[in-house]
Amino acid sequence: MNLSGKRAVVFGGTSGIGLAIVERLAAEGVEVIAASRTAAKRKVPEPRASRHSVDVLDREALAHFYENHGPFDIMVNTAVPSGRAQGPFAEMTLDGFQSTFDKLWGYVNSVRLGLTSFNAHASLVLVSGFPARKCLPGSSAISTVGNAIEGFVRAIAPEISPRRINAVSPGIIDTPLFAQEGMEREQFFQQATGTHPIPRAGTPAEVAQAVLFLIKNDFTTGSVVDVDGGATLP
Ligand SMILES: NC(=O)c1ccc[n+]([C@@H]2O[C@H](COP(=O)([O-])OP(=O)(O)OC[C@H]3O[C@@H](n4cnc5c(N)ncnc54)[C@H](OP(=O)(O)O)[C@@H]3O)[C@@H](O)[C@H]2O)c1
Repeated sequence: MNLSGKRAVVFGGTSGIGLAIVERLAAEGVEVIAASRTAAKRKVPEPRASRHSVDVLDREALAHFYENHGPFDIMVNTAVPSGRAQGPFAEMTLDGFQSTFDKLWGYVNSVRLGLTSFNAHASLVLVSGFPARKCLPGSSAISTVGNAIEGFVRAIAPEISPRRINAVSPGIIDTPLFAQEGMEREQFFQQATGTHPIPRAGTPAEVAQAVLFLIKNDFTTGSVVDVDGGATLP
């Protein structure tokens, strides 16, 4: 499928996986908006991509964004709000567990409020994560949210047809997400991936490649593509 001339928005498109997707789309000739809360301060591959500051949890601002910038052929949401709870479930605050769901609400908002701005054959892609199907100790909230995102994709795919919606499920990917959590990067990546069939962190570009596949493949909807180095395998 030739994407040249199509219009796209990538929420979370100013960092990590989202930025790699913006770069791939721009290289395919797509007119792409990289949207995030602090987009005005971030770098994107101009002039092929533009930036827009919007918070996917702010419904009014998001509706306003769609009204003013649609229609779109492609919508990708990789935004991951910061309030993610990690650690043993028994020690986790319920507020922390609940705020981890902000990622889901941002995704639901971006699909629901964009429905009238998506072209009839638009392609939408969301991001879950390998803990959805292989929960590690301390990841119960993230795992639950990942399952909810994959369930959401399957639930609404029939309702929004002929538009398509799919998800990618990354493994451990080397992005600024981990810097924000103050971890020792190399040590963390070695420990976290050492037992995986492909024992290394993935790159944002490897996830972006799978997102491009889902955008281009007209016969996929309601599906989840794992890009995780085999992290979910026994
Ligand atoms: N990296 C991994 O190993 C990994 C593994 C599994 C799943 N994932 C998933 O992959 C996705 C992308 O992760 P990443 O590693 O690329 O993260 P990242 O580098 O931290 O990028 C997150 C992006 O989301 C934006 N964002 C955060 N809150 C937002 C909001 N409320 N509204 C709009 N934009 C918002 C951020 O920009 P602003 O701060 O400017 O808003 C940033 O552009 C996430 O869904 C994450 O859960 C990542």
